Amino acid sequence: MPLDIIIGTQWGDEGKGRFVDLLSRNAQIVARFNGGDNAGHTVTVERQIFKLHLIPSGIIHSGTINLMGNGMVIHPGSLLDEMKMLSDGGVDVTPKRLFISYAAHIITPAHRAIDKAMESVRGSGLLGTTGRGIGPAYTDKTARQGLRMIDLLDPENLMDNLDDHIRKANKTLESCQVAPLDIREIQEQYRVYSQKLAPFIADTSRIASDALYHGDTVLAEGAQGSLLDVDMGTYPYVTSSSCTSAGVLSGLGIGAYPARRVIGITKAFQTRVGSGPFPTEQSGQIALQLRGTGANPWDEYGTTTGRARRVGWLDSVLLRYAARINGLTKLAITKLDVLQGLDELYICTAYQKGNQIYTELPFGLSNLESYSPVYTRLPGWKSVDITGARTWGDLPAEAQRYIEAIVEFGGVPVHWISVGAERDQVIRMES
Ligand code: IMP
Repeated sequence: MPLDIIIGTQWGDEGKGRFVDLLSRNAQIVARFNGGDNAGHTVTVERQIFKLHLIPSGIIHSGTINLMGNGMVIHPGSLLDEMKMLSDGGVDVTPKRLFISYAAHIITPAHRAIDKAMESVRGSGLLGTTGRGIGPAYTDKTARQGLRMIDLLDPENLMDNLDDHIRKANKTLESCQVAPLDIREIQEQYRVYSQKLAPFIADTSRIASDALYHGDTVLAEGAQGSLLDVDMGTYPYVTSSSCTSAGVLSGLGIGAYPARRVIGITKAFQTRVGSGPFPTEQSGQIALQLRGTGANPWDEYGTTTGRARRVGWLDSVLLRYAARINGLTKLAITKLDVLQGLDELYICTAYQKGNQIYTELPFGLSNLESYSPVYTRLPGWKSVDITGARTWGDLPAEAQRYIEAIVEFGGVPVHWISVGAERDQVIRMES
């Protein structure tokens, strides 16, 4: 029953999509279990770039079945747009290979409007959400008043529920001085969504469980990252879903199967979008080098929002924490090539507060902003171009030393290293 799990170890945007793409070659099922279209997973295939927000990245491989699990929140309009984008790009997106959980929750225009209104009310304490309605949709789910994908199968009842939902939301919007939403217009929209999406709605829990029982490989594709997890992340600067390996079981509705591999995707440096603590954050020339100018699709600008990402040095205290809370068995390091050109590199190995040095934080990620990073310095490989490297031996000694330091400080073996955006720009280690 091979269950493989791919998890971001940082604040999202680690480059998970390309590793899901790589590992889906040997998977029968690829499944998303958390989040919604706040995610942005980029897969580059022969210079064709697919930016996915909702549909599992495995869809690019024609041999896979793809599941959108019950732990997700789904905006039907975004989903239909994404289906069209994929179909236009020659990808088969039919009810034979894409299944949406009947129990996944629906994001409505009211959720999006409330998300934005709440952010404007928060003023300087804003969370920097993606504005996709994620928090309000999960709030409704937990308050037991959400709309679910199964509701699309009963359009008449859905119209009544939408009426009730938008009426309530309009009261909230009014209190934030935001114009009310047009109920009739939204009902019309959702009637169309019902027709278009009904054939895709299924019991994905059963599909995943049956597959595992029969020995098929299920690849669970995490969205966002461990440090954005609603329980274990930098609360309250988190998303509203379970982004860790724990979320796989509840978000797919499967039993406590032991995972064969829990693969942590770690960018060779650290990035974050939106507000919240970021101890190793850099500015100036270093930041420019790490972020890029935005000229390339892989530069550090949000796939979903286009926002420039905050950037900084790799933080191995947070990596060890992610390894612990996820039970990571392997790491994939992404974007090592971005570090070329830098004279020296830094990795945060501990934190300091007063005279005290911490290698583990006493209360997890709480009050992270009150600690300062303690760094170890490593030499860069400056002018050597590593984008053509395909084996460990192709890497310059300084790049090898950097990876060895990640293993030493992070405590998890590295199995893959990516040195560019293309499918083949990956070094596979012999472990
Ligand atoms: P929300 O998920 O839109 O509610 O946003 C909450 C926080 O999570 C914000 O700081 C977002 O920037 C961040 N976030 C949400 N999804 C992603 C993602 O896929 N990558 C990176 N950051 C994300």
